[in-house]
Amino acid sequence: MIMLTKEQITELKNKGNGDLAYLVNKHQDSGNLAFILDNLGHLPKNFNGDFLINLLKHEHYLVRLSAVKNIGKIHQEKYLFLLMEAFENEVNTIVRREIISSIGRMRNPKNKNFLFKILEDHDPKVVCQAIRALLVFEKENEIVEKLKPLLNHQNETVRNFIYKEFFANQENKDSTSLPHTETYDFLKNVVVNGDVLEVLKYVPNESVHLTFTSPPYYNARDYSIYPSYQDYLEFLEQVFVETHRITKEGRFLVVNTSPIIIPRVSRSHSSKRYPIPFDLHGYLVKNGWEFIDDIVWLKPEYSVKNRIGGFMQHRKPLGYKPNSVTEYLMVYRKETTKLIDWNMKSYDSQIIKESKVEDGYETTNVWKIDPKFDKIHSAVFPVELCKRVIQYYSFKGDLVFDPFAGSGTVGKTAKSLGRKFFLTEKESTYFEYMKSKAKPNSSMFGEPETQFFWTMEEFVNHVLP
Ligand SMILES: C[S@@+](CC[C@H](N)C(=O)[O-])C[C@H]1O[C@@H](n2cnc3c(N)ncnc32)[C@H](O)[C@@H]1O
Repeated sequence: MIMLTKEQITELKNKGNGDLAYLVNKHQDSGNLAFILDNLGHLPKNFNGDFLINLLKHEHYLVRLSAVKNIGKIHQEKYLFLLMEAFENEVNTIVRREIISSIGRMRNPKNKNFLFKILEDHDPKVVCQAIRALLVFEKENEIVEKLKPLLNHQNETVRNFIYKEFFANQENKDSTSLPHTETYDFLKNVVVNGDVLEVLKYVPNESVHLTFTSPPYYNARDYSIYPSYQDYLEFLEQVFVETHRITKEGRFLVVNTSPIIIPRVSRSHSSKRYPIPFDLHGYLVKNGWEFIDDIVWLKPEYSVKNRIGGFMQHRKPLGYKPNSVTEYLMVYRKETTKLIDWNMKSYDSQIIKESKVEDGYETTNVWKIDPKFDKIHSAVFPVELCKRVIQYYSFKGDLVFDPFAGSGTVGKTAKSLGRKFFLTEKESTYFEYMKSKAKPNSSMFGEPETQFFWTMEEFVNHVLP
């Protein structure tokens, strides 16, 4: 094992590379070689990299990888052809990707035909590297013709790459849509008593900044009865398709669900568990919601139904039923080619400053929060849960939407955090409950600002006066 420092390697390189080549040839063990090669740094244009050529055939892939990276730094045509040749023989995925990336960095128009061929490679990452390399050149017809068909490529990353490059800026933006940070006054601090799907027919595209909701639990509670689980999922699909339409570009949807249990009909049947978050997920991504995170809401064991009791007695395998102390908060973003940075930059510096999340925020995806029990509604959000979601996923002044408002915790918390809210709730009992909390001196919604609409007609007259 030789002991060389980074400085010594730089010195050898600057002396002319005879010494370096000698050193490399002498030490063919992979550890030393990789160390020398990784520390070569910038290479001058006239650098003689011939000693690297043999290393393209080294048995250890890390040595081959470092050799490729260094050859890529030397912008000489003979090395371009050597890399092309090395690609034909390379079997390691990482090295294959690096070869195409290095070829791209050479920016030599002679690589075009080779790269066209690589567009058919089986590794989507390699295809993306080839696309990047081709996009270095002007978008000349020949290149456009070869790239556009990849819009139908079987891999989603390749498709998105091409879409962003060629079509994203041509999208027909609705010329009437509002600036990103703004929304319609007729939606601000509004609660509607109605079926969410009916109400949303009157809500314009791109008007809400964040949706946080907990949908009905299939047929587990009395307020929601669906003919079948499939009908239930399709109903939620429609709600989230509409939510997608009214959501601003690149903004978030946070859905709180958990697997539920429908009790057995009789002793000769078993109860059935429905994995709602997992079944719903497919419907969301299919409809343009990009999956971002799964947050687990952890509740204390004493607060949940005891399922383990039977097992505690009999201890027989297969009869194990753990107490379910978690729910999910699945986080999605309205698919866009724009980065989150674009969303952030839409706000002025004052709003950004005022919306900064203070110390004490949660650093993991497991949120330990006690549930809330309520006499009126059986599934009320704890305020702490709403606070976190609203603070982490919206800015001050944003419009927060809850299609299944229940007792209105999302609205109340949004208001207290300087956001606006828009709520829909089908059951008049819960609607009335929200209204009752909005009496003048009450802090819940703080009249007179909140507007309650008892009927669809009232709401429609408000939207379309
Ligand atoms: C799980 S609860 C939400 C509770 C709420 N997160 C809270 O903090 O009180 C679901 C609510 O959705 C309502 N709901 C069910 N179907 C609806 C529909 N089609 N339109 C509007 N609300 C509906 C139910 O009446 C119920 O209050």
